[in-house]
Amino acid sequence: MFFKATFLFSLLATSLALPTGTASRNVEKRGILQVQNYSQFQVSGGVAGNALTEVNAKFPINLNNPGSVDAEDLAILKAARKTAENAETKAGGFNEAIEAAGGEKTTTGRALQNGKIKNKVLKLQLQVMIAQIEAAQGKDTAAKLADVTKKLNKNVETDQKNAGQLSTTVNFQGTSQP
Ligand SMILES: *[C@@H]1O[C@H](CO)[C@@H](O)[C@H](O)[C@H]1NC(C)=O
Repeated sequence: MFFKATFLFSLLATSLALPTGTASRNVEKRGILQVQNYSQFQVSGGVAGNALTEVNAKFPINLNNPGSVDAEDLAILKAARKTAENAETKAGGFNEAIEAAGGEKTTTGRALQNGKIKNKVLKLQLQVMIAQIEAAQGKDTAAKLADVTKKLNKNVETDQKNAGQLSTTVNFQGTSQP
């Protein structure tokens, strides 16, 4: 009895020791992405037409090997996605700015609408990245991936139809800090 209890205790002690080792290794940053402000990772300024390429340049994640993406990078992608969504719907975001400009038919509103579409490409491509990484890590994201890919393709198409038109961003306060 005594030996059995000791043996179990030592097994328990070993398994308790493991997470500590993992945590100390995480202190060393292995990801490739930096925490940024929305103003740095947004793609809505300039002109319409290249939103997807611009997003991929800002978030150079290796989607050929999504299983290799660092946990910290995944957390940054998730935080950036949330901020991109807020930049559309929350105070100081695109919807509010378009309304203040008199709707998307005015010159200012049109450019903001182009920026909003580019921001949707940002948000949706981040969601596609997240779903692919999580799938490679064993999570069932098939339905989610199909849904966000469809929405992404639709907005990429709209952005390409707008190619060359002026696109305006919003001075939205937010970050990709997890
Ligand atoms: C984000 O913006 C704030 C306020 O302007 C600034 O203090 C901070 O350094 C910026 N963060 C990064 C990562 O550049």
